[in-house]
Amino acid sequence: MAPFDMRCIECGKVHEMTKPIYACSSCGNLLEIAVDIPSVQRRLSGNEWRARPLSVWKYRELLPFGPETTIYSRNEGGTPLIACRNLAEHLGLKNLWIKFDGMNPTGSFKDRGMTAGITKAKDLGMGIVTCASTGNTSASLAAYAGLAGLKCVVLIPEGKVALGKLAQAMMHGAKVVSVKGNFDQALDMVMKASDSLGMYVLNSVNPFRIEGQKTAAYEVCDQLGGSAPDSLYIPVGNGGNSAAYWKGFKEYEGLGVVDSRPRIMGVQAAGSAPVATMFSRGSDTLVPVSKPDTVATAIRIGNPANWKKTVRAIRDSEGSCFTVTDEEILRAQKLMAKMEGIFAEPAGAAAFAGLVKDVTSGAVDRSSKIVCVSTGHGLKDPDVAVGQSERPVMIDASVEALRKVMEGL
Ligand code: F0G
Repeated sequence: MAPFDMRCIECGKVHEMTKPIYACSSCGNLLEIAVDIPSVQRRLSGNEWRARPLSVWKYRELLPFGPETTIYSRNEGGTPLIACRNLAEHLGLKNLWIKFDGMNPTGSFKDRGMTAGITKAKDLGMGIVTCASTGNTSASLAAYAGLAGLKCVVLIPEGKVALGKLAQAMMHGAKVVSVKGNFDQALDMVMKASDSLGMYVLNSVNPFRIEGQKTAAYEVCDQLGGSAPDSLYIPVGNGGNSAAYWKGFKEYEGLGVVDSRPRIMGVQAAGSAPVATMFSRGSDTLVPVSKPDTVATAIRIGNPANWKKTVRAIRDSEGSCFTVTDEEILRAQKLMAKMEGIFAEPAGAAAFAGLVKDVTSGAVDRSSKIVCVSTGHGLKDPDVAVGQSERPVMIDASVEALRKVMEGL
């Protein structure tokens, strides 16, 4: 068997990887790249892949590209897995890490998927790439499209994209289109228009993006010295990243690099939580949220395109999906920044907020190995950071004035 093919997640129909398609031609369901472990093992054997430095392309043989494919990369991945001793002590935990994917080239985990997605776009000979985005995907896509010399059109929900992300998409040269509607409506437009307008879609419905993102799970295992954590807390928006992590963990176990898999603990913002609602109701169908809302604008999504993939991932892993409030997210964001020096955007603090909630309710084994994924950098959203912080103190330019301020420390 070939090392990789592209299959429908529902009916299993195999689709050609040489065409820009995102859904099964028979039943309309999502597609994924199926990995044939024995063939990949053959690709890996005899080379020094384990000794390569951490990065998405360390795992090249585990990605659906041939050795001849030209890669478009800004050295993404290889982000720190930070041992959080202060937060662990604060929560009474023994082993806590934060995988800080905000340290990628454009400040979010999206770059892992985009290096793979843009490499695929070039391989297919596409000239224009597109996405709908709550901000980070558009920033990342714009940067990688520029790098690869592709035209780029990004659709963002009017007035709801954090300033830093908007600045990035504009600076990297994308055509930025503000849609009078929310993310779900923008994605619907992109999916309907891409064929007739000749654009390649790089939202997470694109299975090649998920392939790039799954490398984060390999990295976590490598950084833990060849073992998987017991649980992984991760924010769920469109549901792509949680599914990608699970795919990565399963593949690493299949290859025999690790001998266990974590429980995937999906965390949604309370105002945008259709997947968490499925779990709390024990339901098998998603009921979209028509007016999603949350301070974590990155995950302000009411109709997650990848819900089937993420629900399967979470269930297969024996994990769960639940909500945190905006207040809990902001409190977690502050705690991470103050106690560990990790500045995450609100969505990048949601996973840790979920862990705090679980610890408080007694749902966590305090000696287990826990990883929280922090998906985006705090500089992305300066307005939320400034808005929840104490204002600078204004003083005269004198040492005496400074001494007075210090009395209040
Ligand atoms: N965290 C951040 C910082 C994000 O930007 C996103 C998604 C997520 C979490 C959720 O990941 O969708 O794979 O479940 N942002 C997309 C965007 C939707 O357009 O930037 P997911």
